[in-house]
Amino acid sequence: MSKKKILIIQPIHEAGIKLLTDNSNYEYEILENLEAQDIKSKISNCDAISIRTAKLSGELINCSKNLKIISRHGVGYDNIDLAASKEKNITLAITATANAIAVAEHVLFMLLNIAKRKSMYDDSVKSGNFSNRNKLPKTIEIWNKNILIAGFGRIGQCLIKRCKGFEMNVFVYDPFVSKEVVESLGGKKVENLEDSIKNMDAVSLHVPLNDKTKNLINYNLLGTMKKNCIIINAARGGVINEIDLDRALNENLIFGAGLDVFEKEPPDQNNPLLKNKKVFLSPHTAAFTEECMVRMGKETIQNIIDFFEKKLDKSKTIKL
Ligand SMILES: NC(=O)c1ccc[n+]([C@@H]2O[C@H](COP(=O)([O-])OP(=O)(O)OC[C@H]3O[C@@H](n4cnc5c(N)ncnc54)[C@H](O)[C@@H]3O)[C@@H](O)[C@H]2O)c1
Repeated sequence: MSKKKILIIQPIHEAGIKLLTDNSNYEYEILENLEAQDIKSKISNCDAISIRTAKLSGELINCSKNLKIISRHGVGYDNIDLAASKEKNITLAITATANAIAVAEHVLFMLLNIAKRKSMYDDSVKSGNFSNRNKLPKTIEIWNKNILIAGFGRIGQCLIKRCKGFEMNVFVYDPFVSKEVVESLGGKKVENLEDSIKNMDAVSLHVPLNDKTKNLINYNLLGTMKKNCIIINAARGGVINEIDLDRALNENLIFGAGLDVFEKEPPDQNNPLLKNKKVFLSPHTAAFTEECMVRMGKETIQNIIDFFEKKLDKSKTIKL
């Protein structure tokens, strides 16, 4: 058979590349330049694409002639035009088993950083103000506190185990997951987001970004939350309205927020959240552990190989 051409849009871990160099059925090209015209010039002849966060518009997809599979390096696929992919009968795969643990750990990292006022305490010692320790605002515990996990898929189900390790009371909002599944992992299913969020000390978002979840967390809802509540978004920017969040933090409606994702990435320098001391930020790197990058690099390529060998597991594909 002639070699399949794989276009890798944005570099991936070498462990993934090795799967291709070890296999004589494939040739590949790595595209580091992400301008639409650069992708356009390469997309027409490739049989498969591995893609990270670059945008793959319908216009670009329609320029492809042989494209059979788009393999996301990650699990969110809001950067891919689904209608165009469906129209051209292209399979969409995700690295379904690779990144849940890394993201769940990152949520705990953010939650504890905010609760323990990491920046303030760290700065205090480093700037020679150790003796200020009694004057600093107190930190808070997460033990015995209520956390709401909104979206109980791969990441939400990894997070609950870690929250239980800290003896938190875990509530789950996900209309598509049964009470039995939630309870089997030690959580309590809630039916109504607005009613339950009022009683939470922490909220962590793990829903996909779509028309129903855009601005799910807005000023009105933030206004009903407890003043000590910490909210974490490691799902997708846009699930929390950023202007509303900044306002709610400035009005002390909640304690703090952790954001790994932004409505616009990278965020504009004049985004007020970049200067808000009550926010803990990371640059969409929740899944960037050494271990996870290896797993994602391998899985995105293995999904392509499995597809052409007609053994790609359905659980790794998205129904279009
Ligand atoms: N920060 C990062 O680097 C990073 C890494 C991986 C995933 N993500 C994002 O995390 C999110 C979750 O990923 P996952 O792998 O757990 O996905 P998943 O598909 O396994 O789980 C998503 C869950 O959300 C639920 N859901 C859908 N719509 C909902 C709604 N309106 N209200 C409540 N629940 C709803 C679904 O039933 C599902 O159980 C996605 O948005 C993904 O893009 C971010």
